[in-house]
Amino acid sequence: MAHIIGVVSQKGGVGKSTLTRLVAREFAQQGWDVKIADLDVSQGTCVEWGRIRQKNGVAPLIRVESFGRLEPALADAERFDLVVIDGAPHATATTLDIARVCDLVVIPTGLSLDDLRPAVVLAHELVRKGVAADKLVFVLARVGESVASMEDARRFLAQAGYDVAQHELPDRIGYQRAMNAGLAASESAHRTLNEKAEAVAQDIADRLTALVSRREVA
Ligand SMILES: Nc1ncnc2c1ncn2[C@@H]1O[C@H](COP(=O)(O)OP(=O)(O)OP(=O)(O)O)[C@@H](O)[C@H]1O
Ligand SMILES: [Mg+2]
Repeated sequence: MAHIIGVVSQKGGVGKSTLTRLVAREFAQQGWDVKIADLDVSQGTCVEWGRIRQKNGVAPLIRVESFGRLEPALADAERFDLVVIDGAPHATATTLDIARVCDLVVIPTGLSLDDLRPAVVLAHELVRKGVAADKLVFVLARVGESVASMEDARRFLAQAGYDVAQHELPDRIGYQRAMNAGLAASESAHRTLNEKAEAVAQDIADRLTALVSRREVA
């Protein structure tokens, strides 16, 4: 069965499409057959990126398709090893549907309380509606240099009862330039940036492996 990872948020611009592309690329690089289902029809960020990637002949191949609804997005999921769903800018009714069908739900957030509060409200809402809390993982994304604010954010999310990926994705122009060229955050022109992005993707992959193996044992 295809694994499904959803990337969702309450707020726009927190890094969903960036993490979607990163995760898709890192799994594809490991030989997985990966599809991105872009559910953000208004912007089509991943679709546009996929077009540029194809035009530039970047390997590994990642199929990207746009969908207005979840059901058709998953209709051919069995043909893939992994489907990564890029959610719409803001949480909608579909966000809950995504969370329900996913093996793992990634919620990117910035470090400010302005970002953290709505992210936690969304997570609480998903859990209240029956999504297992351990299916959710927060990723601190677009972060600056302040270690103190990262620690504060981690504490806030831990107190709210949620897990946070061990590594953060910093805010760097190098990532934007990579994505402009159809590349993922781990394919930038800078080795240190690539390593940071790979570490975030590895946290997500480890999390997926743990969840899936636990489910298989149960
Ligand atoms: N780590 C980063 N460093 C620099 N720029 C970034 C980073 N992550 C995202 N960006 C930029 O920030 C903007 C928003 O990122 P992204 O599109 O990934 O967020 P999003 O949550 O998908 O947004 P939306 O809610 O509009 O769909 C984009 O211009 C993207 O290129
Ligand atoms: Mg997006």
